[in-house]
Amino acid sequence: MLEVQNTGMAELRIGDKTIELPMLEGAEHEGAIDIRALRKETGFITYDPGFVNTGCCKSDITYIDGEKGVLRYRGYDINDLAEKCEFVDVAYLLVHGTLPNKEQHDSFSAHLNNHSMLHEDMRHFFGSFPDHAHPMATLSAMAVSLSSFYPELEDTSKQENIDYKVTRLLSKMRTAAAFSYKKSIGHPIVQPRHDLKYCENFLNMMFSTPVNNYQVDPVVANALNKLLILHADHEQNCSASVIRMVGSADANLYASISAGICALWGPLHGGANQHVIEMLERILEDDRGDVKKVVARAKDKNDPFRLMGVGHRVYKSYDPRARVAKQMCKDVLDQLGVSDPLVDLAQELEAAVLADDYFQSRNLYPNIDFYTGLTYRAMGIPTNMFTVMFAIGRIPGWIAQWLEMKEDPHARIGRPRQIYTGPVHREVH
Ligand code: CMC
Repeated sequence: MLEVQNTGMAELRIGDKTIELPMLEGAEHEGAIDIRALRKETGFITYDPGFVNTGCCKSDITYIDGEKGVLRYRGYDINDLAEKCEFVDVAYLLVHGTLPNKEQHDSFSAHLNNHSMLHEDMRHFFGSFPDHAHPMATLSAMAVSLSSFYPELEDTSKQENIDYKVTRLLSKMRTAAAFSYKKSIGHPIVQPRHDLKYCENFLNMMFSTPVNNYQVDPVVANALNKLLILHADHEQNCSASVIRMVGSADANLYASISAGICALWGPLHGGANQHVIEMLERILEDDRGDVKKVVARAKDKNDPFRLMGVGHRVYKSYDPRARVAKQMCKDVLDQLGVSDPLVDLAQELEAAVLADDYFQSRNLYPNIDFYTGLTYRAMGIPTNMFTVMFAIGRIPGWIAQWLEMKEDPHARIGRPRQIYTGPVHREVH
C-alpha cells in the first residue's frame, strides 16, 4: 500500500479555539482532511448523511475520477481490462493486486473447478423457496448458508488460503445463482462441468436441460465475460461499504457478502438494472413510447418517479462502464441478429436526457445499469436475474474490499454517530 502523503495542516476555528487537522493526499492527488481527532479535541462530530464527503478507509483497489469518467482496477483502465482479459484474471487482480501469470491462472482456475459444486444438503434448500422467490433473496440466503457448511480459513497471509476462500465463494455463488433460476422455472438443476470455463459453465448451468443439446454461443460467453468485468468493483459504493461495515464487527466473509447482496438488490443500487427494463416496458406499453412524458415526470418534484439507470453519486460525466456497455449492447444484438424495440426506446430516452437542461445542470448521465439489462435480455437472461448477474460480477471486488479491511491496521468497528433530535429526558408517571 502506498502511504498517503501528509501535505500540511488545515485549521478549524470554533469560537476562540483553533485546532489543526492533518491534510492528506492519495496516489491520484485527491485531498482529504483527517478528522479523527475532531470529537476528542472539540466535542463536535461531523454531519454527513449518505457519507457524501466521508472517506471511510484508504484503499489500493479501485480508482474513480467521477469528473473525468475514469475507472481503474489496481491501476488498469476498465476499457483495457474489458477488452483484453478474462473475468477470472480480473478477479485475481482485484484480490492479489497483480494480473496472474500462466501458473497462477491455472491454479486459480483449478480451484474454481474444485469448488464448483454445492453441498448436497444446500441443494435441497432450493426446493423450499417458493417458485416466485426473487433470485437475489435466494442468493443472499445461500451466501450466508455457506458459513455453516464450509469453515473459514482465518490465516490470510498465505496466498493459497486466500485463493481457497475467494474461489470457493466465486464458484459456489455462480452455481447457486444458476440453481435459483432453474428452481424458478421448475427445471431440474444442471451441475457445473470441469471442462468449461467460468462464463461458459454458468451459461450451461442456466440453459442446458436434459432434453436439449445446449451449445454455448461464444458471442454470449464473451459478452458475459465483459459484463462481469465491468461490474467487478466500484470502490466504496453502498454494498462494498455494507460488507466492510459487517466485516468490521468481525463477522465472517460469507455473512458479510450476504449482507452486501441485500444492499445491491436495492433499486437505487444494482437493482436498477431490472428496474430499467421494467421502466422501458411500461413506457412502451402504458405510454406508447412517449419519452417526453416520462422525462417530464422525472423532472417533476411532486412526483417520486426517477429515471432508472440515470444519475450517479460519483460520476458527474458519462459513466465509463455505461460507455462500454452501450457499445457492447449494440455489438451483441448485431452479432446475435436480435432486434429489440426497447433498445431503440432506450436510445431515444438517452438522447432526451442528454439534451435536457434539468439533467445537464445536475450532471446526470446514463449509468452502467442503463444498457446492461438490454444486453442480458438479448443473451436470454431473464429480467429478475439481472441483479444476480451484477452480484456474481461484484463478488471479487467485495472480497478484495473485505480482505483489505481485515489487513488494515487502522480499521475499527464501523460505528457512526448521530445528532439526537428526539425528546429530552422525561419520566414515566
Ligand atoms: N431521475 C431524475 N432526477 C434525478 C435522478 C434520476 N434518475 N437522479 C438524480 N436526480 C436528481 C435529484 O432529484 C436531485 O435533484 P435536486 O438537486 O433538484 O434535488 C439531483 O439529481 C441529485 O440527486 P441525488 O439524489 O442527490 O443524488 P445521489 O448521489 O444521492 O443519488 C442515485 C445517486 C444513483 C441514487 C440517483 O441518481 C438515482 O436515484 N438514480 C436512479 C437509480 C439508479 O440508476 N441507480 C444505479 C446507480 S449505478 C449502479 C451502482 O449502484 O453502482
